[in-house]
Amino acid sequence: MAIRLATLSLLLFASIAWAWPACTVVHNDGQDDTPNVYAAVQGCPAGEVVVFAANTTYNMFTPLNLNASDVTLSIQGNLSLPTNITAVQAAVNASTNGGYWLYFGGSNVTLQGSADPHNGWIDSHGQQWWDANNTIGRPILLGFNVNVGYLYNLKVYKPIAWAIELASATNIYASNTLIDASSTGSFPFNTDGFIATGSNIVIEDSIILNGDDAINIGQNSVGTHNVTVRRAYMGYSSHGCSIGSLGRVPSQPANVSNILFENVFFDGTLYGARFKSWVGGTGLAKNVTFRNFGMRNVSFPLYLSQTYIDQNNPGPPRVNNASVIMEDFTYENFYGDINTYSPGDGSCISDPCWWATISFVGLTAGVIDLAFVRYYEPDADGTQAVIMRCNENACSNFTLTNINLHTQSGVPATTLCNYPPVNSTNLGFLCANGTFTPT
Ligand SMILES: *[C@@H]1O[C@H](CO)[C@@H](O)[C@H](O)[C@H]1NC(C)=O
Ligand SMILES: *[C@@H]1O[C@H](CO)[C@@H](O)[C@H](O)[C@H]1NC(C)=O
Ligand SMILES: *[C@@H]1O[C@H](CO)[C@@H](O)[C@H](O)[C@H]1NC(C)=O
Ligand SMILES: *[C@@H]1O[C@H](CO)[C@@H](O)[C@H](O)[C@H]1NC(C)=O
Ligand SMILES: *[C@@H]1O[C@H](CO)[C@@H](O)[C@H](O)[C@H]1NC(C)=O
Ligand SMILES: *[C@@H]1O[C@H](CO)[C@@H](O)[C@H](O)[C@H]1NC(C)=O
Ligand SMILES: *[C@@H]1O[C@H](CO)[C@@H](O)[C@H](O)[C@H]1NC(C)=O
Ligand SMILES: *[C@@H]1O[C@H](CO)[C@@H](O)[C@H](O)[C@H]1NC(C)=O
Ligand SMILES: *[C@@H]1O[C@H](CO)[C@@H](O)[C@H](O)[C@H]1NC(C)=O
Ligand SMILES: *[C@@H]1O[C@H](CO)[C@@H](O)[C@H](O)[C@H]1NC(C)=O
Ligand SMILES: *[C@@H]1O[C@H](CO)[C@@H](O)[C@H](O)[C@H]1NC(C)=O
Ligand SMILES: *[C@@H]1O[C@H](CO)[C@@H](O)[C@H](O)[C@H]1NC(C)=O
Repeated sequence: MAIRLATLSLLLFASIAWAWPACTVVHNDGQDDTPNVYAAVQGCPAGEVVVFAANTTYNMFTPLNLNASDVTLSIQGNLSLPTNITAVQAAVNASTNGGYWLYFGGSNVTLQGSADPHNGWIDSHGQQWWDANNTIGRPILLGFNVNVGYLYNLKVYKPIAWAIELASATNIYASNTLIDASSTGSFPFNTDGFIATGSNIVIEDSIILNGDDAINIGQNSVGTHNVTVRRAYMGYSSHGCSIGSLGRVPSQPANVSNILFENVFFDGTLYGARFKSWVGGTGLAKNVTFRNFGMRNVSFPLYLSQTYIDQNNPGPPRVNNASVIMEDFTYENFYGDINTYSPGDGSCISDPCWWATISFVGLTAGVIDLAFVRYYEPDADGTQAVIMRCNENACSNFTLTNINLHTQSGVPATTLCNYPPVNSTNLGFLCANGTFTPT
């Protein structure tokens, strides 16, 4: 009898397992599948992969907060956020996730996507948010606060705002990421691709079409170190490879080092290589390289400002004459053309765009606060290959080599340069306002 019972329950189990194997996330039409993710992770034997089944659209109706170690999630089906804007806002308001929709903690965590172009998309239905100009209660799509983490083949479709944040993450490898935040209507504000804080991070082979930084090297209390970004295509209205803004909060002086961006193509983007630190900021950014950059129709190919301020969101008081210090910066092998005829991007909502000071306040959920002024660039006229606005003695040991950037009108490319970087034996160009002159 005991044996018969055991056989029966085994059969029952087998019949349930036939429909949804233990490691497959259950999907129920019209219902929230988020709780089923926890169940699948708990029910899946150690070392086996938790699978979102192919050809299934999972309803990620509420935020996920998964803090589990030694897990692999394979996203073979689509994940869909609610299409109802109010429902997303209500869930963000109710969440204790710090504003993230999909949040991962723990160590040794792998998220892998699908090689099938029709599967494995994380769809946030951002278009309707952009078209409604709705910036209230927006989630950060994916937060990855992990030690030892792998992101393979992830595909993000129309994120509402920020796509992937490596939040104080350590030992992370991300490859083959596709982020499509291109809009068919209004501008997709704050659709940063990767935001990285933490250390020992490699991001390879990305395609990012978006309306803010494609890669943002950020700032928190720990700092950001040892980040390599290589082989990427950045397009739509992307703000490119960006460090900062650093130094906003005096208790978190900038602490950024060993950053390498290489082999990137920028197609019609607003920025290429960008650095931004706050007026009165403190701290250090050291050993940063931008190299092998191809550009087509880029508004600000090489841009640096140490006097960033957001009038609408100035942050706590900072020391007046302080500056984030920048040391050992290398810019090498930049080729292509500057957007001469219509610099700027779709974030321009005033005419003329150059003099508009527009700011949007992001989430104030306590995790990140990405308020920013879009672009107000004194004296820029679409011919600048280099805009380098260092504070006095605040930039040192800079090298520019092989900067081959051309205007579209054929007039010589120009430079806007404030104080020349000091201690730069191979600066490589004349720091002056006027024609760009290699030295
Ligand atoms: C998904 O559906 C497509 C089209 O029906 C089919 O060709 C493919 O084999 C399915 N994939 C899987 C893994 O079931
Ligand atoms: C998955 O989402 C993508 C992007 O929205 C879509 O093109 C594709 O058809 C979806 N796949 C399935 C199986 O629903
Ligand atoms: C990492 O997690 C995977 C399961 O996702 C497991 O197979 C592997 O053994 C773990 N690695 C270590 C070093 O524990
Ligand atoms: C959208 O979500 C809100 C809040 O959850 C709810 O009150 C409303 O009925 C939903 N609208 C639709 C069309 O489902
Ligand atoms: C969410 O919170 C924001 C800001 O506090 C508020 O404006 C909005 O009405 C709330 N939305 C919902 C659906 O709870
Ligand atoms: C995950 O849980 C561990 C153990 O409880 C904790 O130390 C860690 O801070 C958690 N991580 C996150 C991101 O919440
Ligand atoms: C979008 O909303 C912001 C405030 O959130 C407002 O300042 C701006 O004028 C709006 N833009 C459009 C095009 O409606
Ligand atoms: C950065 O990399 C260097 C060289 O590999 C290593 O010594 C250092 O500990 C790393 N920094 C951090 C914060 O992990
Ligand atoms: C500078 O950063 C690069 C790229 O991350 C790294 O390979 C190199 O070791 C760093 N140099 C020093 C002196 O730390
Ligand atoms: C200047 O920066 C380069 C590139 O990071 C580095 O190799 C070199 O050691 C630095 N020079 C000094 C004097 O620090
Ligand atoms: C270049 O122009 C900027 C304004 O765009 C000005 O602040 C700076 O002093 C000028 N630089 C030099 C070297 O004259
Ligand atoms: C420039 O180099 C000299 C000699 O190494 C050093 O004393 C000085 O502090 C450096 N200046 C800056 C601003 O880095």
